[in-house]
Amino acid sequence: MKKTTLADLRTKKETGKKISMVTAYDYPGARAADEAEMDTILVGDSLGMVVLGYDSTVPVTMEEMIHHIRAVMRGTEHAFVLGDMPFMSYQVGPEQAVANAGRLIKEGGCDAVKLEGGVSMVPMVRAIARVGIPVCAHIGLTPQTATSLSGFRVQGRDAESARELLHAAEELEKAGACMLVLECVPTQVAEMITARLSIPTIGIGAGPGCDGQVLVFHDVLGLYDRFLPRFVKRYADLGQDVVQALSSYRTELEQGEFPGPEHVFTMREDEVDKLY
Ligand code: KIV
Repeated sequence: MKKTTLADLRTKKETGKKISMVTAYDYPGARAADEAEMDTILVGDSLGMVVLGYDSTVPVTMEEMIHHIRAVMRGTEHAFVLGDMPFMSYQVGPEQAVANAGRLIKEGGCDAVKLEGGVSMVPMVRAIARVGIPVCAHIGLTPQTATSLSGFRVQGRDAESARELLHAAEELEKAGACMLVLECVPTQVAEMITARLSIPTIGIGAGPGCDGQVLVFHDVLGLYDRFLPRFVKRYADLGQDVVQALSSYRTELEQGEFPGPEHVFTMREDEVDKLY
C-alpha cells in the first residue's frame, strides 16, 4: 500500500467513498491504525485528556504535540497524518500560526496541521496554506474554547447559527483549508456543508453525511472512561481487558506461578559449581 495523499482523499470525496480517520498518539497506536488501513491519523490534542490526564485540551503544549507526533510518524507508513495545533499556538496571529505549523511539520514530521475555529481563523488558515503547509480547519464544537461556547454542546441547531457555520466553512475553504472537521453539528447542517464544499469534511458527532468520520482511539477501544459522548461507538472494551491482565500477572507472581521455568535463564551446572 502506498502513502495516502491529499489527492487520494479528494478523489474519495468525488467518488463518494468514505474517508476513515482515527486519532493516535504513540508508536503502537499508529502501527495499529496503519495496519487497520485507516486513510488518515489525527494526532489530536485530545491526547491531553486521554493520554496525559488533563481535564481539558487547553494545557497541551507545542512540545507535547511534537513529542507525540514524532512517535506516531515512526509507526506510520501509509496513513496521511495530521497534527493538532494546541491552544494558543496560532490564535495570536498569522505569523505565530505559520511559525508553529512549521514546527509541527519540520520537527514532528506530520503531513498537515489542524486548528480550531470559524471565520476568525481565516487569516491564520490563509497564512499557513500560503507557505505550502496543508491545513485542516475544525468548526462546530471546538474543545479548546468549549467553555466560551457554553460547554460541550451541539452547535448550529437553529437556522441562524447553522448559517454561520456554513459561512465559516465556505470562508475557510476559500482561505485554503484542505479539509474540514465538523464536530457536534446537526446532520442536516453537516450534509449541507459537505455538499457545498469541494474539500473533504470529516465528522465527529455530525452524522453520516460527511465525507469521512473521525473517532478518538481511546473511545473506540474502551480505554477512556471519564465520559462517553453520545456520538462515540465503542468497538472493544480493552480497558477492562487491561485491568484483568494486570491483575492476573500480580496474582501469579504473588502465588509464585510467575516466572515459570519457560521464562528463566540458567547457567551450566559446572559453572554454578565454580561459584561456591
Ligand atoms: O483532538 C482531537 O482528537 C480532535 C478530534 C476529536 C477531531 O480534534
